Amino acid sequence: MTKRFITVGDATEQDLSDIYHLARTPFDDETLKGQGVALVFERPSLRTRASSSAAVHELGGYATFFGADEVGLDERESAEDIGRTLAEMFAICALRVRDHGVFERIWRATGGRLALINLLSDVAHPTQAVADALTIADEFSRGDLTQLAGLEVAYVGDATNVARSLAVCLLRAGVNVRVGAPAGYQLTPSEVENPFAVTGGGTLRLFSNAAEAVRGANVIYTDSWVSMGFESEVVKRREELAEFRVDEELVTRADANAIVMHCLPAHRGDEVTNSVLDGPRSRVWRQVHHRHSAMMGVLRWMKEEK
Ligand code: CP
Ligand code: NVA
Repeated sequence: MTKRFITVGDATEQDLSDIYHLARTPFDDETLKGQGVALVFERPSLRTRASSSAAVHELGGYATFFGADEVGLDERESAEDIGRTLAEMFAICALRVRDHGVFERIWRATGGRLALINLLSDVAHPTQAVADALTIADEFSRGDLTQLAGLEVAYVGDATNVARSLAVCLLRAGVNVRVGAPAGYQLTPSEVENPFAVTGGGTLRLFSNAAEAVRGANVIYTDSWVSMGFESEVVKRREELAEFRVDEELVTRADANAIVMHCLPAHRGDEVTNSVLDGPRSRVWRQVHHRHSAMMGVLRWMKEEK
Protein backbone atom coordinates (compact mmCIF):
# COMPACT_ATOMS: atom_id res chain seq x y z
CA MET A 1 0.00 0.00 0.00
CA THR A 2 1.25 3.49 -0.81
CA LYS A 3 2.34 5.39 2.27
CA ARG A 4 2.48 9.05 3.21
CA PHE A 5 4.35 11.02 5.86
CA ILE A 6 2.57 14.35 5.97
CA THR A 7 2.35 14.98 9.72
CA VAL A 8 3.71 13.28 12.81
CA GLY A 9 0.14 13.25 14.15
CA ASP A 10 -1.10 11.01 11.32
CA ALA A 11 1.65 8.42 11.76
CA THR A 12 0.74 5.40 13.89
CA GLU A 13 2.86 4.31 16.85
CA GLN A 14 4.14 1.46 14.69
CA ASP A 15 5.01 3.84 11.82
CA LEU A 16 7.03 6.08 14.14
CA SER A 17 8.75 3.17 15.79
CA ASP A 18 9.68 1.72 12.35
CA ILE A 19 10.93 5.09 11.10
CA TYR A 20 13.14 5.55 14.17
CA HIS A 21 14.45 2.01 13.86
CA LEU A 22 15.20 2.33 10.13
CA ALA A 23 16.82 5.74 10.69
CA ARG A 24 19.29 4.16 13.08
CA THR A 25 20.16 0.85 11.43
CA PRO A 26 22.50 -0.01 8.53
CA PHE A 27 20.73 0.30 5.20
CA ASP A 28 20.17 -1.93 2.20
CA ASP A 29 21.13 0.20 -0.79
CA GLU A 30 18.65 -1.60 -3.04
CA THR A 31 15.65 -0.07 -1.26
CA LEU A 32 14.99 2.54 -3.96
CA LYS A 33 16.82 0.85 -6.83
CA GLY A 34 15.73 2.31 -10.14
CA GLN A 35 13.00 4.41 -8.52
CA GLY A 36 12.51 8.13 -8.86
CA VAL A 37 11.76 10.61 -6.11
CA ALA A 38 10.43 14.01 -7.17
CA LEU A 39 11.57 16.82 -4.88
CA VAL A 40 9.24 19.81 -5.23
CA PHE A 41 10.28 22.96 -3.37
CA GLU A 42 8.02 26.00 -3.28
CA ARG A 43 10.35 27.57 -0.70
CA PRO A 44 14.14 27.75 -0.30
CA SER A 45 16.02 24.99 1.52
CA LEU A 46 19.52 23.80 2.30
CA ARG A 47 19.29 21.02 4.90
CA THR A 48 16.08 19.46 3.65
CA ARG A 49 17.09 19.41 0.01
CA ALA A 50 20.58 18.15 0.85
CA SER A 51 19.40 15.39 3.18
CA SER A 52 16.57 14.20 0.96
CA SER A 53 18.58 14.07 -2.27
CA ALA A 54 21.55 12.41 -0.52
CA ALA A 55 19.30 9.80 1.09
CA VAL A 56 17.56 8.96 -2.20
CA HIS A 57 20.89 8.44 -3.98
CA GLU A 58 22.33 6.36 -1.14
CA LEU A 59 19.29 4.08 -1.32
CA GLY A 60 19.88 3.50 -5.02
CA GLY A 61 17.18 5.81 -6.40
CA TYR A 62 17.35 9.03 -8.35
CA ALA A 63 16.06 12.41 -7.20
CA THR A 64 14.80 15.11 -9.53
CA PHE A 65 14.46 18.63 -8.17
CA PHE A 66 11.65 20.99 -9.16
CA GLY A 67 11.84 24.58 -7.94
CA ALA A 68 8.97 26.99 -7.43
CA ASP A 69 9.43 28.69 -10.79
CA GLU A 70 9.40 25.41 -12.72
CA VAL A 71 6.27 23.80 -11.32
CA GLY A 72 4.31 26.98 -10.53
CA LEU A 73 2.05 25.16 -8.08
CA ASP A 74 -1.52 26.41 -8.66
CA GLU A 75 -0.20 29.13 -10.98
CA ARG A 76 1.23 27.42 -14.06
CA GLU A 77 -0.76 24.29 -13.27
CA SER A 78 -3.01 22.97 -10.49
CA ALA A 79 -1.54 20.93 -7.65
CA GLU A 80 -3.79 18.06 -8.77
CA ASP A 81 -2.39 18.02 -12.32
CA ILE A 82 1.16 18.28 -11.02
CA GLY A 83 0.48 15.26 -8.81
CA ARG A 84 -1.12 13.27 -11.66
CA THR A 85 1.87 14.04 -13.90
CA LEU A 86 4.49 13.11 -11.30
CA ALA A 87 2.61 9.90 -10.43
CA GLU A 88 3.24 8.65 -13.99
CA MET A 89 7.03 8.92 -13.56
CA PHE A 90 7.95 8.80 -9.89
CA ALA A 91 7.35 6.44 -6.98
CA ILE A 92 7.56 9.12 -4.30
CA CYS A 93 6.98 12.85 -4.26
CA ALA A 94 8.46 14.93 -1.43
CA LEU A 95 7.27 18.50 -1.24
CA ARG A 96 7.96 21.75 0.60
CA VAL A 97 4.80 23.81 0.19
CA ARG A 98 3.24 27.10 1.21
CA ASP A 99 -0.18 25.56 1.85
CA HIS A 100 -0.48 22.26 3.71
CA GLY A 101 -3.80 21.53 1.95
CA VAL A 102 -1.84 20.67 -1.21
CA PHE A 103 -0.94 17.24 0.21
CA GLU A 104 -4.54 16.10 0.56
CA ARG A 105 -5.39 17.47 -2.89
CA ILE A 106 -2.56 15.55 -4.55
CA TRP A 107 -3.33 12.40 -2.56
CA ARG A 108 -6.96 12.50 -3.71
CA ALA A 109 -6.14 13.40 -7.32
CA THR A 110 -3.69 10.51 -7.64
CA GLY A 111 -5.89 8.02 -5.79
CA GLY A 112 -3.02 7.43 -3.36
CA ARG A 113 -0.77 6.11 -6.16
CA LEU A 114 2.02 8.55 -5.34
CA ALA A 115 3.74 8.25 -1.94
CA LEU A 116 3.99 11.70 -0.33
CA ILE A 117 6.45 13.23 2.13
CA ASN A 118 6.06 16.64 3.72
CA LEU A 119 9.35 18.52 3.65
CA LEU A 120 7.79 21.53 5.46
CA SER A 121 4.46 23.25 5.10
CA ASP A 122 2.91 26.24 6.82
CA VAL A 123 1.76 23.98 9.67
CA ALA A 124 4.18 21.06 9.95
CA HIS A 125 7.78 19.93 9.51
CA PRO A 126 7.63 16.22 10.36
CA THR A 127 11.04 15.09 9.02
CA GLN A 128 12.66 17.80 11.17
CA ALA A 129 10.78 16.46 14.22
CA VAL A 130 12.11 12.94 13.58
CA ALA A 131 15.66 14.33 13.37
CA ASP A 132 15.12 16.27 16.60
CA ALA A 133 13.77 13.24 18.45
CA LEU A 134 16.84 11.24 17.33
CA THR A 135 19.09 14.07 18.57
CA ILE A 136 17.38 14.22 21.97
CA ALA A 137 17.58 10.45 22.32
CA ASP A 138 21.32 10.53 21.52
CA GLU A 139 21.76 12.96 24.38
CA PHE A 140 19.49 11.59 27.07
CA SER A 141 18.72 7.91 26.41
CA ARG A 142 21.66 6.47 24.43
CA GLY A 143 19.58 6.64 21.29
CA ASP A 144 16.60 4.75 22.69
CA LEU A 145 13.48 6.57 21.48
CA THR A 146 11.29 4.62 23.89
CA GLN A 147 13.06 6.08 26.92
CA LEU A 148 12.36 9.81 26.59
CA ALA A 149 9.37 10.03 28.96
CA GLY A 150 9.69 12.63 31.68
CA LEU A 151 12.19 14.88 29.89
CA GLU A 152 11.33 18.58 29.89
CA VAL A 153 11.66 20.36 26.54
CA ALA A 154 11.05 24.11 26.31
CA TYR A 155 10.39 25.71 22.94
CA VAL A 156 10.69 29.51 22.94
CA GLY A 157 9.88 32.02 20.21
CA ASP A 158 7.48 31.84 17.29
CA ALA A 159 5.53 28.60 17.75
CA THR A 160 4.83 27.60 14.17
CA ASN A 161 5.40 24.58 11.86
CA VAL A 162 8.59 23.30 13.53
CA ALA A 163 7.20 23.77 17.06
CA ARG A 164 3.97 22.03 16.11
CA SER A 165 5.56 18.84 14.71
CA LEU A 166 8.18 18.79 17.47
CA ALA A 167 5.52 19.07 20.17
CA VAL A 168 3.35 16.30 18.68
CA CYS A 169 6.39 14.04 18.28
CA LEU A 170 7.75 14.60 21.79
CA LEU A 171 4.39 14.52 23.59
CA ARG A 172 3.70 11.14 21.97
CA ALA A 173 7.04 9.94 23.39
CA GLY A 174 5.98 11.04 26.88
CA VAL A 175 8.14 14.18 26.94
CA ASN A 176 6.72 17.20 28.77
CA VAL A 177 6.63 20.14 26.38
CA ARG A 178 6.53 23.79 27.38
CA VAL A 179 6.08 26.59 24.88
CA GLY A 180 7.14 30.13 25.77
CA ALA A 181 5.85 32.76 23.35
CA PRO A 182 4.26 36.21 23.38
CA ALA A 183 0.62 36.77 22.44
CA GLY A 184 0.08 36.18 18.75
CA TYR A 185 3.01 33.74 18.46
CA GLN A 186 1.84 31.04 20.88
CA LEU A 187 0.83 27.53 19.84
CA THR A 188 -2.90 27.24 19.04
CA PRO A 189 -5.10 24.19 18.39
CA SER A 190 -5.23 23.28 14.69
CA GLU A 191 -6.93 20.76 12.43
CA VAL A 192 -3.68 19.05 11.50
CA GLU A 193 -0.52 18.42 13.55
CA ASN A 194 -2.35 19.41 16.71
CA PRO A 195 -0.31 19.06 19.94
CA PHE A 196 -3.45 19.74 21.99
CA ALA A 197 -5.00 16.52 20.67
CA VAL A 198 -2.19 14.22 21.86
CA THR A 199 -3.48 12.04 24.67
CA GLY A 200 -1.75 9.68 27.03
CA GLY A 201 1.70 11.17 26.53
CA GLY A 202 3.60 14.06 28.07
CA THR A 203 2.03 17.29 29.31
CA LEU A 204 1.81 20.48 27.26
CA ARG A 205 2.15 23.81 29.07
CA LEU A 206 2.09 27.30 27.61
CA PHE A 207 4.01 30.29 29.02
CA SER A 208 4.08 33.97 28.15
CA ASN A 209 7.51 34.40 29.75
CA ALA A 210 10.70 32.83 28.38
CA ALA A 211 12.49 32.44 31.74
CA GLU A 212 9.52 30.60 33.26
CA ALA A 213 9.21 28.37 30.20
CA VAL A 214 12.83 27.18 30.37
CA ARG A 215 13.18 26.86 34.16
CA GLY A 216 14.96 23.55 34.88
CA ALA A 217 14.36 22.28 31.32
CA ASN A 218 16.58 19.62 29.73
CA VAL A 219 16.28 21.14 26.26
CA ILE A 220 15.77 24.69 25.00
CA TYR A 221 14.59 24.80 21.38
CA THR A 222 14.08 27.81 19.15
CA ASP A 223 13.38 28.60 15.49
CA SER A 224 13.50 31.69 13.30
CA TRP A 225 11.33 34.63 14.35
CA VAL A 226 10.61 35.25 10.68
CA SER A 227 9.42 32.11 8.95
CA MET A 228 9.41 31.90 5.16
CA GLY A 229 6.52 33.96 3.86
CA PHE A 230 6.62 36.47 6.74
CA GLU A 231 9.61 38.51 5.54
CA SER A 232 7.57 41.73 5.44
CA GLU A 233 7.09 41.47 9.23
CA VAL A 234 10.79 41.50 10.19
CA VAL A 235 10.72 44.76 12.12
CA LYS A 236 7.49 44.00 13.99
CA ARG A 237 8.62 40.47 14.87
CA ARG A 238 12.04 41.61 16.15
CA GLU A 239 10.27 43.98 18.48
CA GLU A 240 7.55 41.61 19.68
CA LEU A 241 9.80 38.57 20.16
CA ALA A 242 12.83 40.37 21.66
CA GLU A 243 12.27 38.93 25.13
CA PHE A 244 12.31 35.40 23.76
CA ARG A 245 15.90 35.46 22.48
CA VAL A 246 17.93 32.42 23.55
CA ASP A 247 21.00 34.03 25.11
CA GLU A 248 23.44 32.94 27.80
CA GLU A 249 21.31 34.43 30.56
CA LEU A 250 18.24 32.45 29.47
CA VAL A 251 20.29 29.26 29.26
CA THR A 252 21.34 29.65 32.94
CA ARG A 253 17.65 29.24 33.90
CA ALA A 254 17.50 25.74 32.41
CA ASP A 255 18.97 22.55 33.88
CA ALA A 256 22.76 22.66 34.36
CA ASN A 257 23.17 20.00 31.63
CA ALA A 258 20.57 21.41 29.27
CA ILE A 259 21.20 21.37 25.54
CA VAL A 260 20.14 24.01 23.00
CA MET A 261 18.53 23.11 19.68
CA HIS A 262 17.55 25.05 16.56
CA CYS A 263 16.28 23.63 13.26
CA LEU A 264 18.32 26.22 11.28
CA PRO A 265 18.73 28.45 9.36
CA ALA A 266 19.62 30.61 12.38
CA HIS A 267 19.33 34.36 12.46
CA ARG A 268 22.23 35.03 14.78
CA GLY A 269 21.50 37.86 17.16
CA ASP A 270 17.73 37.52 16.73
CA GLU A 271 16.27 34.31 18.14
CA VAL A 272 19.66 33.01 19.31
CA THR A 273 23.01 34.59 20.11
CA ASN A 274 26.32 33.54 18.58
CA SER A 275 27.72 32.48 21.94
CA VAL A 276 24.83 30.07 22.56
CA LEU A 277 24.66 28.71 19.00
CA ASP A 278 28.42 28.12 18.90
CA GLY A 279 28.72 27.21 22.59
CA PRO A 280 29.09 23.87 24.37
CA ARG A 281 25.34 23.38 24.92
CA SER A 282 24.47 23.65 21.25
CA ARG A 283 23.48 20.46 19.41
CA VAL A 284 22.48 22.10 16.12
CA TRP A 285 25.03 20.20 14.00
CA ARG A 286 23.90 16.91 15.49
CA GLN A 287 20.37 17.88 14.41
CA VAL A 288 21.66 18.51 10.89
CA HIS A 289 23.36 15.11 10.92
CA HIS A 290 20.06 13.51 11.90
CA ARG A 291 18.16 15.24 9.09
CA HIS A 292 19.93 12.69 6.91
CA SER A 293 19.19 9.79 9.31
CA ALA A 294 15.54 10.87 9.43
CA MET A 295 15.21 10.92 5.63
CA MET A 296 16.80 7.47 5.42
CA GLY A 297 14.29 6.26 7.99
CA VAL A 298 11.26 7.77 6.25
CA LEU A 299 12.27 6.58 2.76
CA ARG A 300 13.09 3.06 3.94
CA TRP A 301 9.80 2.88 5.87
CA MET A 302 7.90 4.00 2.75
CA LYS A 303 9.29 1.16 0.67
CA GLU A 304 9.22 -1.44 3.44
CA GLU A 305 6.87 -4.38 2.79
CA LYS A 306 5.26 -5.74 5.95
N1 CP B 1 15.72 22.99 8.99
C1 CP B 1 15.44 23.08 7.68
O1 CP B 1 14.41 22.63 7.20
O2 CP B 1 16.41 23.70 6.94
P1 CP B 1 16.25 24.12 5.41
O3 CP B 1 15.15 25.15 5.35
O4 CP B 1 17.59 24.68 5.01
O5 CP B 1 15.89 22.92 4.61
N1 NVA C 1 9.66 28.06 10.78
C1 NVA C 1 10.66 28.11 9.74
C2 NVA C 1 11.37 26.81 9.64
C3 NVA C 1 12.52 26.77 8.65
C4 NVA C 1 13.16 25.43 8.57
C5 NVA C 1 10.01 28.48 8.42
O1 NVA C 1 8.90 28.01 8.15
O2 NVA C 1 10.60 29.24 7.66
